[in-house]
Amino acid sequence: MTSIATVILGAGMGTRMKSAKPKVLHEIAGRPMVSHLLGTVAELNAEKSIVVVAPSMQNVRDVVAPATIAVQEEALGTGHAVAAALPELDGFEGDVLVLYGDTPLMTLDTLQKMIDKRREDDATAVVVLGFEPDDPLEYGRLVTAEDGALSAIVEYADADTATRTIGLCNSGVMAINGKYIAELIGAVDNKNAKGEYYLTDIVEIARNKGLKAQVVIGGEEELLGVNNREQLAEAEKIAQGRWRTAAMREGATLIDPDSVFFSHDTKLGRDVVVEPNVFFGPGVTVGDNVRIKANSHIEGTTIGAGAQVGPFARLRPGADLGPNVKVGNFVELKKATLEDGAKVSHLSYIGDARVGAEANIGAGTITCNYDGYDKAKTDIGAGAFVGSNTSLVAPVKIGDGAIIGAGSTVTREVEADALMVERAEEIQKSGWAARFRKMKAKLNK
Ligand code: UD1
Ligand code: MG
Repeated sequence: MTSIATVILGAGMGTRMKSAKPKVLHEIAGRPMVSHLLGTVAELNAEKSIVVVAPSMQNVRDVVAPATIAVQEEALGTGHAVAAALPELDGFEGDVLVLYGDTPLMTLDTLQKMIDKRREDDATAVVVLGFEPDDPLEYGRLVTAEDGALSAIVEYADADTATRTIGLCNSGVMAINGKYIAELIGAVDNKNAKGEYYLTDIVEIARNKGLKAQVVIGGEEELLGVNNREQLAEAEKIAQGRWRTAAMREGATLIDPDSVFFSHDTKLGRDVVVEPNVFFGPGVTVGDNVRIKANSHIEGTTIGAGAQVGPFARLRPGADLGPNVKVGNFVELKKATLEDGAKVSHLSYIGDARVGAEANIGAGTITCNYDGYDKAKTDIGAGAFVGSNTSLVAPVKIGDGAIIGAGSTVTREVEADALMVERAEEIQKSGWAARFRKMKAKLNK
C-alpha cells in the first residue's frame, strides 16, 4: 500500500479579502478554512500532513498545530509554495495531495477518487481535480487531449480568447506521484503574465518528460475557491446546507432549515425540534427530545434530554442544562449549571451559578456575579423558589427548599427551607390618590 502525504497551501495573504487576517484563517461554520481541510485529510491517514505558511503567520501555525509547517519566505506563486514543502518530502515516494487552503469544502470521496486515479498507472505523474462551474470566472482552464488525458493548465491571465471559452476549470487540487514531484517542481519557471511560479505548469512539464497527466471531475460546490468575502459567504451557505441536511437525516426537525445556523461541531440528538432563526455557535451538544424555540442564540452549551429552550434565549459558554430543564424567553445563562427540571422561565441573567434540581427562578432574577474586578458564584439549592425581581449578590448560597420573597436583594446565605424577604415596609394611605387628583385639577384650571 502506497502512503499519502498532504500539502495544504496557505502562504498567500489573500489580498482580495481586504483583511488583516491571513485568508486561510477566515471561518466557515465557526472554524478556520484550513482546519476544515485538515479535518478532511485526517481521514486519509496520511503519513505526513504539511501546511505551507508565510514567515509572518504565527497565528496560522498555532491553529494548524501539530501539522508539519513549511515556510515559504516570499509568496512567489503556488509552484514556489510546493517547493517550500519539498524538504519535508525528501525521500517520500508515495502520493502527494496538494490542496489549496482557500478551497475548504473538499470532500473525502473526491480526494479518494484522485488517489485511486493516480494509482492506476505508475507513469501518471499528476492527477488534477477539474470542475465545470456555471460561471468559470478567472479559474485556470484545463486543456484535454482526445483520449481525455490532460494536456495543460492555462491560467486565466495567460489564456487567449479561445482557451477562455473552455468550461473545464482547475480546482487547484492535485495528486502528484512522489517519485517525480521534486523534478517537476524544479522545472517550473515564472515566465508568464503574473510573473509567478505556477504549480499548474507541472502538467505540461510532466507530459514533455513522457509522463502522463489525468483529470478527475469534482462537484462545483465542494470546489469553490474563496478569494473574496462574497465567495466566503457562498462557501458558508454551502457548508450550512450540508449541516442542515445532516441534522435532518439524523432525526432532528428543522421547521425552517434555511434560518438555522450550525457550527462545524454542533451535535443534535433524536427528535430535537429547532424552530426558525436559531444560531448555534461552537461547542453545542443537544440531547434527545429537546425543543429549541425561535430566535435563540446558543454557544458552548450542553442541553439535556427533554429540555425546552427559548424563544429568545441566550445560552453562553459554560451553560449546562440537565434533563427537562426549562429556560424561557429573554433569559441569559453563562457558566451556569441547571440541574434536572430546574426552571428559569422569564427575563433573567444567571451567571457563575448552580441551580439545583426542580428549583424555580422567578422572572427578572439576576445573579450579581461581578463587582467590577472579580467574578463570584451563586449556589441555589434543589427545590428552592426565588421570587420575581430578586438580586442575588454573589458570592451567595440559597439552601435547598428555601423561598425568597419577590423583590429581595440577597447578600447573605439563606438556610434550607427558610423564608427570606428583604423589602421596605409597605405604606397605604386611604383616599390619598383621589385627593391628589382633585388638588391638581383645581391648580390647572
Ligand atoms: C489558483 C490556480 C488556478 C485555479 C484556482 C482555483 C495556480 C497558478 N492557479 O488560482 O488555476 O483555478 O487556484 O481556486 O495555481 N499560495 C501560497 N503561496 C503563494 C501563492 C498562493 O501558499 O505564493 C496559496 C494561497 O494561500 C491559496 C492557494 O495557494 O490558499 C491558492 O492561491 P490563489 O492566489 O488563491 O490562487 P488563484 O488565483 O485562486
Ligand atoms: Mg484562490
